[in-house]
Order: sequence, then C-alpha cells, then structure tokens
Amino acid sequence: MQSVPSAHFPIYRPRRLRQRELLRVLVQESHLRAEQLILPLFVVEGEDRKVPVKSMPGVFQLSIDNLIKEVRSAISMGVKSILLFGIPVSKDDRGSEAYSSEGITQKAIRALRKEFKNLIIITDVCLCEYTNHGHCGMLKKNDRNEVIVDNDSTLELLAQTALSHIQAGADIVAPSDMMDGRVRAIRTKLDENGYQNAVIMSYAAKFASSFYGPFRDAADSAPQFGDRRAYQMNPANGDEALREVQMDIEEGADIVMVKPGLPYLDILYRVKETFKYPTAAYMVSGEYAMIKAAGLNGWIDEERVMYEAHLSMVRAGADLIITYAAKELCQMLIS
Ligand code: PBG
Repeated sequence: MQSVPSAHFPIYRPRRLRQRELLRVLVQESHLRAEQLILPLFVVEGEDRKVPVKSMPGVFQLSIDNLIKEVRSAISMGVKSILLFGIPVSKDDRGSEAYSSEGITQKAIRALRKEFKNLIIITDVCLCEYTNHGHCGMLKKNDRNEVIVDNDSTLELLAQTALSHIQAGADIVAPSDMMDGRVRAIRTKLDENGYQNAVIMSYAAKFASSFYGPFRDAADSAPQFGDRRAYQMNPANGDEALREVQMDIEEGADIVMVKPGLPYLDILYRVKETFKYPTAAYMVSGEYAMIKAAGLNGWIDEERVMYEAHLSMVRAGADLIITYAAKELCQMLIS
C-alpha cells in the first residue's frame, strides 16, 4: 500500500471527498442492498394466529394464513428471500415432525410455494425445535454413562428433513445443527433423490452464543438440560472456524454462513478472504433485541444504528444477511 504523504504537507486530504453527500456516495465502497437480505419467519399450527415474541419487537409466531399475509407484505417492501422455522405442536425424542411430509414446515413451504413463485424459500434444517429435549440431535449415553448428543445417528434424520423441505418446494436448505458430516449426508441424500440442483447454505461457523436467547423463546427450542457447547463452536476460536467452513465446502455447501454477526466480524472477514465463497452473516435474535431495546428506550437512533450494523457486515465480507430487520431495512433503502 502507498504511504500517506507527510502530515506537514497534506496533499492527501481525505476530507475533500466528504464535503457533500453526492461526493460521499460517489466514492462509497460498500452498499447494503434489498436483494441480499433474508427475513426469518416462525410458523405455527392453527388459524389466524399471530403471537408476538416478547423479546423481539416486530417478530411473531404466525399460522400459515398469517404467514402468507406477512410474506406478501414483506415482498411489497422489497424482501426477496425468507428463512423459515417451523414450530410443531408435538415433539418427541427423535424430532419426528422435522421430517414428516405433514409437518408444519412442509405444509408452510407448500402453501408459500403455491402463492409466491418468485420468492426464495430457505428452510432451517435442525432438530431442536422438534425434539422434546430441545437438543439439535439424537441423545445417547456414552461409555461414562453421560447423556450426549449423538453425531452419526442424527445425520440420517437431518438428511431426511432436508429432503422433505426440498420436496415440498424449498429452494435452499440451511443446516444449523453443527453435527460433523451433515452437509455430506444432506448432499448425498438430495443427489440420490434427483435433487442435484438443490442449494445448501450451511451454518458453517456457528458459535455456541448467548446471543440466541430471544430466538429460543420464538422457536420454543431451549435445551431442557445442559447447553450446546458440545456441538456449536467455542466463541474463542477463529482458526477452527476456517476449518469448519472448509469442511462444509468440501462436503458440498454452496453458501457458507457465519453466526452470530456483529460479535464475529473478524470471522466473517477471514472466511470471505480465505474462501471467496458466497458468504452469509446472521444477525441473530439477541443482536436485534439489543438494538430494538435501546431504540425503544430512546437511547440510540434505532434506524441509523440498524443500518450501520448491517452495512458493517457487508464491509466485513457478507454477501447475504439474515436479519429480523429485513423489512425495515428495505424501507430505509428505498426511501
Ligand atoms: C437452530 C437455530 C438457532 C438459531 C438459528 N437456528 C438456535 C440455536 O442454535 O440455539 C438462532 C437464531 C437467532 O438467535 O436468531 N439450531
């Protein structure tokens, strides 16, 4: 990089390009676009249900009829893609509803597909919303007689879940469970069933984060004992995130994700720099809740903070952003 000329004779005056708005945008490096935003939505059984999620203002659990209304309104604001989470009525130890063709998610996908031909439907593939114990995989006892989440017996169930979503009409499946080898298992299952073109967006570097708290209210998926640190990543690790991403790419992921977003911008930057793959960032429930809470209290300018937070993820390397603020950001970007 060229050195900046001496401060005693400032030939380079960065402020020249900051004098007026038109100049500033002329040389702006990063841009937030409506096309790159993905809106997460929570679907429940029943009719005419719209249950507010207490810790996430503006986010609701929706029955399929209201889900369709919500998506129609989101599309009218400029949203092009959604990430769907299903919350079943009945849960069991194997998460059976996750891969049933009559599960809530599968029904919602079919209803959405019928209604919206151009919408990108992404589905979260995980068992934690469907298991009565709230963990992301099957439980078993290890040789020390401790209950653990079993990696290999979970893979087939995840693959079946992904297949059932694609069969129902989803465009992209997004495995978020963090079992080793799940991308390969899903890719193999999809290929065997003739879905070679189904896209996989893997939650590749997903950290065991305390920022997921509000989501677990929304999705009713808090683990009933213990936590997820034996399968999600240690927040202290960066090099390991690169190995996780490499593994998912080798197993057939098309898009890789870093999650959460703002506290992990360094990871996002390294992942994009290293692999040059389509890279997604997830601004998770706790990040959204913090900005909303401070905004509601009048402590920050919520709109500007929301915009700046998302723009910083683009600058760090995000091509796509999953965000509960997708609708409001689209409105800001248009106006
Ligand atoms: C499912 C899943 C979670 C999130 C996305 N998919 C919860 C978790 O891992 O505990 C979190 C999203 C958010 O906090 O907004 N495994």
